Amino acid sequence: MVNILVIGSGAREHAIVRSFSRSKKKKKIYCLASNNNPGISGICNELKIDNIDDPKTVQEYAKKHKIDFAIIGPENPLASGIADSLWEINVGVVGPKKDLAQIETSKSFTRNLLVEYKIPGCPKFKTFESMSGVKEFLILLGDNYVVKYDGLAGGKGVKVAGDHLHSHDEALIYCEELIKKGGNFLIERKLIGEEFSLMSFCDGENLSHMPAVQDHKRAYEGDIGPNTGGMGTYSDSDHKLPFLEDSHIKLAQKINEQTAKALKQKFGEGYKGILYGGFIATNSGVQLIEYNARFGDPEAMNVLSILETDFIEVCKSIISGELNDLDIIFKNLATVCKYAVPDGYPDKPVKGNQIDVSNVKDKDILYHASVELESEKLIQMGSRAVAIVGHGESIWEAEQIAEENISKVQGPLFHRKDIGTTELIQKKINHMISIK
Ligand code: GLY
Repeated sequence: MVNILVIGSGAREHAIVRSFSRSKKKKKIYCLASNNNPGISGICNELKIDNIDDPKTVQEYAKKHKIDFAIIGPENPLASGIADSLWEINVGVVGPKKDLAQIETSKSFTRNLLVEYKIPGCPKFKTFESMSGVKEFLILLGDNYVVKYDGLAGGKGVKVAGDHLHSHDEALIYCEELIKKGGNFLIERKLIGEEFSLMSFCDGENLSHMPAVQDHKRAYEGDIGPNTGGMGTYSDSDHKLPFLEDSHIKLAQKINEQTAKALKQKFGEGYKGILYGGFIATNSGVQLIEYNARFGDPEAMNVLSILETDFIEVCKSIISGELNDLDIIFKNLATVCKYAVPDGYPDKPVKGNQIDVSNVKDKDILYHASVELESEKLIQMGSRAVAIVGHGESIWEAEQIAEENISKVQGPLFHRKDIGTTELIQKKINHMISIK
């Protein structure tokens, strides 16, 4: 019998719990949650709502249920040192300790690590603690700059020239706002190209790479509108992406490998968890936009739904440092994931309305996120509500399934019809050709 603790309760964690539940091993699955996600509570032994960022709370819960190992879904518990507190009581964790999680929680840490260890893929950047030198650096970059808050901001701390900032004056005002709030920031060269996610399982020493995925961060069709947590994602049956060359994927894998090695050298202990590189293919090769210290959401749904290897085995190998002894296999299927989100999301989402998923007949392709079950009714809580993942021999087939089923979810919600369509993918291919 293995007792597993999953920390977090969104659609990513629903995918994690579902992967564990598919294992033939004898297990009990516990979830420490922030919302009463019915998709998770329906398949785990217990879902407990509590403060998932509090080390003592998590330790007590792990002791009570004699947890053998834990996996941490979201970034905030990683930033709070939940992995450290579980290792302290001899519970192995998939998810890095606080120091190593800086790869996500501090953008300046990551950029400086790339420079220190001569890891490729780092654009021109400068870190700032005051306004001194900001104007001069903006002038040096001209119209191609990005201002990044140096900490966790749920995707809202990054402002890009041309999209969110339309002049150096606007950029200076944003930088001053950050300084007033007591925040440091970075200014980087804006990168032009197509973004992709390359996640790797990492056992502290060895890496095993997952299929490449493309996320869609903008709220509206045609990749316009405000940034979101991610409206949907797709992956291809060959685990590559139609707009990428093999060399792009190879370089992204190499950057993840070199980063894991650098982390081990820097801290004297290895990174155990999911190393998620947010990359961009540009006309001068692959560059790193940012690192996340966890599974992507929605990306977790794409990759875990085609993972053939027992996920309990994968987690145990990460924790014991034996990833090299395990052959991790993903099915050769394309995937398309689409989220249904509340009207008004992300800026002014409606909240508290009932939604209805009963017309989605295949419940295995449905993932619950920011929803709660109240008196038998499914209530959306104001963020991404539910997702559908379609599978097929081609992205086209997977998209048809995702679109057909997400359209059946009823309530004051919307989704992006264009994610995974041949038209949008062709646009991305054309974009890559146009920047060559
Ligand atoms: N897919 C974006 C993220 O997980 O941060």
